[in-house]
Amino acid sequence: MWKPPQRIKFHSQLGRAPTVEQAQASRLFSPVHIGPLTLPQRTWVPAMVPWRSNDEGWVTEDVLQWYGRFARGRPGAIVIEATGIRDVPSGPLLRIGHDRYIEGLQRLVQTIHRESQGQTRALIQIIDFLNIRRRPEPAKFFERFLRITPRLRQALGAQDWSEAAVREHLTQMDPQQWPEVLDAREWEALHMGARERVTDTEWPHIQELPQVLPGLFAAAAGRAQQAGFDGVELHYAHAYTMASFLSATNVRTDGYGGSREQRIRLPLEVYAAVRQAVGPQYVVGCRYLAEECIDGGHTLDDAVWYGEQFARAGMDFISTSRGGKFDDAKQPGVGSSAYPYTGRSGYECMPQYLSDEQGPFGRNIAATARIRSAIRAAGLATPVVCTGGVHNFDMAEAMLERGDCDIVGTARQSLADPDWALKTSMGLGDQVRLCEYTNYCEGLDQKHKQVTCQLWDRMELDEPGLRKSSDGKRRLVAPAWEPPDA
Ligand SMILES: Cc1cc2nc3c(=O)[nH]c(=O)nc-3n(C[C@H](O)[C@H](O)[C@H](O)COP(=O)(O)O)c2cc1C
Ligand code: SF4
Repeated sequence: MWKPPQRIKFHSQLGRAPTVEQAQASRLFSPVHIGPLTLPQRTWVPAMVPWRSNDEGWVTEDVLQWYGRFARGRPGAIVIEATGIRDVPSGPLLRIGHDRYIEGLQRLVQTIHRESQGQTRALIQIIDFLNIRRRPEPAKFFERFLRITPRLRQALGAQDWSEAAVREHLTQMDPQQWPEVLDAREWEALHMGARERVTDTEWPHIQELPQVLPGLFAAAAGRAQQAGFDGVELHYAHAYTMASFLSATNVRTDGYGGSREQRIRLPLEVYAAVRQAVGPQYVVGCRYLAEECIDGGHTLDDAVWYGEQFARAGMDFISTSRGGKFDDAKQPGVGSSAYPYTGRSGYECMPQYLSDEQGPFGRNIAATARIRSAIRAAGLATPVVCTGGVHNFDMAEAMLERGDCDIVGTARQSLADPDWALKTSMGLGDQVRLCEYTNYCEGLDQKHKQVTCQLWDRMELDEPGLRKSSDGKRRLVAPAWEPPDA
């Protein structure tokens, strides 16, 4: 992962551990309404893909155990990882693109409700993404994948050559010359792996996205409702289709790109279709980027305006993230795909302990606070969730007290210690296992390996019946923590 050149080391701190009375009187442990739902507390586990599903996208026993473990810490809400809305092979990503998934998802909801003793609400993040290919072997790329176009022939001075001769010539060429003869997309396909964009409107399946996606999202949300989820989160963040429509890099000319009014059009149409499918009494919100953090990306002013439009449209909550784009991703190894968390924008999404003067904690707060205050200025009470580097009670409480947000998301801190909020609420905050922001977990995610935390994955490996990672070396969920008087 990219790291700021300053490489200043930051250490997370426990901060003040409140007494039970202080916790009870706090904002963090007070209820909050999200549309028709009430969360008993303002703690929120944002979506995190842990690679626990299988190639068919089912809810597996490992998926149940993973979320059951978070639920035992009784956060206000858990958002299930990005779950694919299409019925197409998607690797071991959870899926909701067909009715056959409903039964497994039902078990997942029941697990969260049961393990949290009815305290935690279960939401699911639903996602669409475009195709991305692995970085190819150059020889294979030139032999099989590259289209030999008149432009390429001209660049090579090879108008009269056979196609086989052109391919052979490119393979034998000095690699330094490849970027000189390939166009930008061909070069990207070779040195990064080909990646579709929402602006590739010459392809019918990309041109038709505005016609196809509202129905796909609506059907997926309907399934989430049937499975008993308390709500859905539309994934409008990071490197994926809907965020690409919102992005300032979206220059489509069909009314769905260009100005911000046109860039938000499809996200609003998707929301309208979802609302139509699930009715007014079901929680629907979205996660989107407070800042894209890439050159030419949308500005905070755009994001403030987007937030206001989402709230006006009737979304029940708005959750923010930042960065996480393909645009500045590092070159992957041959045979691997680009990963959108390897560049500067990736750092902004999941900052780690080696940082710049600003540090890795709370980098999303100022931007989110501006979004929330614009929503409030518009007379709307839509709750806003802020995530990024939050790891202790003081920090969360201060965010709520200042009015930066209404709900505090903690992804890696919840992974490091799924009981952190429960311990804090019981006056046992000094027992919290603090995330060190090493991004060991994110490194596993990048390799599509089962995500665990280095602070607990080698502990108590002889526990009877313990489920371990495929290599047998790591436990897959944090060891149990029993409250002292349980
Ligand atoms: C392993 C891992 C997987 C993630 N998967 C998702 C995801 O599916 N959807 C999403 O919106 N964010 C995802 N994120 C980003 C987190 O939700 C969160 O925004 C980010 O980690 C920053 O918050 P934190 O500092 O509290 O960890 C993931 C993060 C991690 C570490
Ligand atoms: S591996 Fe654990 S300690 Fe390291 S960043 Fe991830 S959650 Fe935090």
